[in-house]
Amino acid sequence: GHDVVSAKEIVLSDSEAVARHAADFLLEEALRATDVFRIALSGGSTPKRLYAMMAQPDYATRFPWTRTQFFFGDDRFVPADSPDSNRGMLQKILFSQVDVPPENIHPMPDQGDPDAAARAYETVLKAQYGAATLRKDKPLFDVVLLGLGENGHTASLFPRQPVLQEKTRWVAACTPDDAPHTRLTLTYPAIASSRYVLFLVTGAAKAAVCARVRKGDPAEPASHITSEGRIEWIVDKDAAA
Ligand code: 6PG
Repeated sequence: GHDVVSAKEIVLSDSEAVARHAADFLLEEALRATDVFRIALSGGSTPKRLYAMMAQPDYATRFPWTRTQFFFGDDRFVPADSPDSNRGMLQKILFSQVDVPPENIHPMPDQGDPDAAARAYETVLKAQYGAATLRKDKPLFDVVLLGLGENGHTASLFPRQPVLQEKTRWVAACTPDDAPHTRLTLTYPAIASSRYVLFLVTGAAKAAVCARVRKGDPAEPASHITSEGRIEWIVDKDAAA
């Protein structure tokens, strides 16, 4: 692993090109992997086009669904049929459209006590990882997809929240003071255990925060994302402006 990670930025014409680039990247990496391929998915609106694209025959017929394990980078602590559920969104746009074995999909729990649910999801990750401690030479995820909020959050790592200090747990609950719903989220150390972190950012509304994070402004939670592997920013020209 590295302490300082090189981050690469790719600027594309629009959100469609961003989705296309990400879909090509995931397909290529998944096909390149000889064994199990592990992705942590992002939520929100930005990656919806990517997920819809992956469900189209071009990708769906070539993607190695049976040896890919799908995890969630974060989710709102709401039932899957809520319009705010990432699990529900993924089910509708992607999983219900392709031949992915249901046991390869690992949604975050959405009931009971949020802290207990976070621990339960961490147990799922540890079972998949095959160990209870992260090793630098063995990444937990092949790819972690991330978005960026206008307030600098990524996954559900929100400004001023205790989860930002988490050094040992892989998953934690977070109740933002400026966004609806309690959420479960991967922590910084869990995201860091990755071969690739891919930020997808589109639209003029994200330009200011995108520039601050790319400069490493410590006030933005997304600035503190690291990876044992590489961080890549796939942005459209509006977000890069
Ligand atoms: C989520 C996320 C979150 C998201 C940003 C950007 O579940 O909402 O994973 O971190 O990526 O809030 O959201 P938009 O893509 O909707 O702008």
